[in-house]
Amino acid sequence: MNIGIIGMGSMGYNLAKNLVSKDFKVYGFDKNKEIIKKITFDNIKNLKIESSIKELCNNLPSPKIIMLSLPADKIDICINELIQYLNPKDIIADLGNSLYLKSIDRHEYLKSYDICFLGVGVSGGPGGALSGPAIMVGGSKKAWKETKHIFNSIAASNGHNIACNYFGSPGSGHFVKLVHNGIEYALMGTLAETTNILKKAFGKSQNDQSNELNKLLNTNSSSYLLELTSKVLNAQNKDNQLFIDQIDSKIDQNGTGIWTVNAALELNVSIPAIYSALSTRSISSKFNFNGNQETNISNKKELVDFNEINLEEIIFFNFACSLYQGLDLINTSNKWDDFSFNIGDVFKVWNSGCILQGKYLEYIASEYAINKEFNLNFLYKIISNKTSDNLSSIRKFISIASKNSIPSPVLSANLNYFDLVFSKHNIGETIQLQRSFFGQHPLREKKGNKIIKPYWTK
Ligand code: 6PG
Repeated sequence: MNIGIIGMGSMGYNLAKNLVSKDFKVYGFDKNKEIIKKITFDNIKNLKIESSIKELCNNLPSPKIIMLSLPADKIDICINELIQYLNPKDIIADLGNSLYLKSIDRHEYLKSYDICFLGVGVSGGPGGALSGPAIMVGGSKKAWKETKHIFNSIAASNGHNIACNYFGSPGSGHFVKLVHNGIEYALMGTLAETTNILKKAFGKSQNDQSNELNKLLNTNSSSYLLELTSKVLNAQNKDNQLFIDQIDSKIDQNGTGIWTVNAALELNVSIPAIYSALSTRSISSKFNFNGNQETNISNKKELVDFNEINLEEIIFFNFACSLYQGLDLINTSNKWDDFSFNIGDVFKVWNSGCILQGKYLEYIASEYAINKEFNLNFLYKIISNKTSDNLSSIRKFISIASKNSIPSPVLSANLNYFDLVFSKHNIGETIQLQRSFFGQHPLREKKGNKIIKPYWTK
């Protein structure tokens, strides 16, 4: 079977190599001459490099299946060129990090040319693209039927499941991928904040931090991101200098986190860990605002015995809460007419190949499989199974950070999320009273729909 790939950067090229290893023949094109030179030099069997999109379309046997591995802002230009050379029933699959709304529009647009469109979220980075990524598909059912075997054969597998799923309607694949990326930000923030607290409040060196994470590798707090963090924390250049001391602290991003937060705002879903992780990126160009001088606020030190800290619980709690918030967004998006996600399918596709994979996720997925109920009771159950003593270690960790002026936006966001929902407080009632006082907004009785009218209402 023949497949065209446009965009032969590290993702596209590795996908091509993955495809040829599964006996597909690939016709590849990239505008960048340097990339083409390198690939031609590699001389991969069954990978034919074409000199233009037109030539690729002419040589690719019909029905033509073309995968795009391009930056989000290059997709429309490429689609418009492809339209000139494709025939009805041909298939275009966008494998990049595209906004789901664009995938919905592109599906409609291509339908008017009778060309089938798939919006495909691919996770796992270039390494995953080569060895088996997680693949989240949405769009034309007909195109899915024709390409299912291709995606299934190149996707990751954990022995039970193939990390590839068709979520149905246009945009659904890219929607699951953008939420994946939002959760990815929160998990990365969890690990960065936690290890920074280990350093600043507990005096742990980069090696010590790395070792502390390594100790968790066989626990239910383990994940791909945790493992890679343990490797980068003490990584050095050839002059034995730590990379962490060499690099700029400004965090880059490709926009998927912003899209996740936008979707959550639109659906009125609370995802504070994801937002906090995004907000950390937004302000990262201002880190160390006063140069490298420690300001007065950083001077006081209050220490806690490290033995009182249970890192396994801290990481699990934050991974579970961040994951829950993202899944809640996916679940709530089912109220949009077109989407009908099943949380079990999302677990299936995220269990291997993707950046979120890990033992924490396998454990949470296995708990979900018991009752298949996705709600706050489920969150409470998985947290109480894996933590002790009213989260006392997590509270101590955040409080010692706060006493020492050490930031913990994601960790605090998760704890506040949990306490807002599961502790008794009057925050809602007070805000309702404030609204009523200045705006005469109606107040509902605690249980029931009866309206209460305080003396200040007319
Ligand atoms: C993945 C990743 C990937 C993402 C990069 C960078 O699932 O493989 O999510 O798609 O593009 O990790 O993302 P940022 O540039 O936003 O950090």
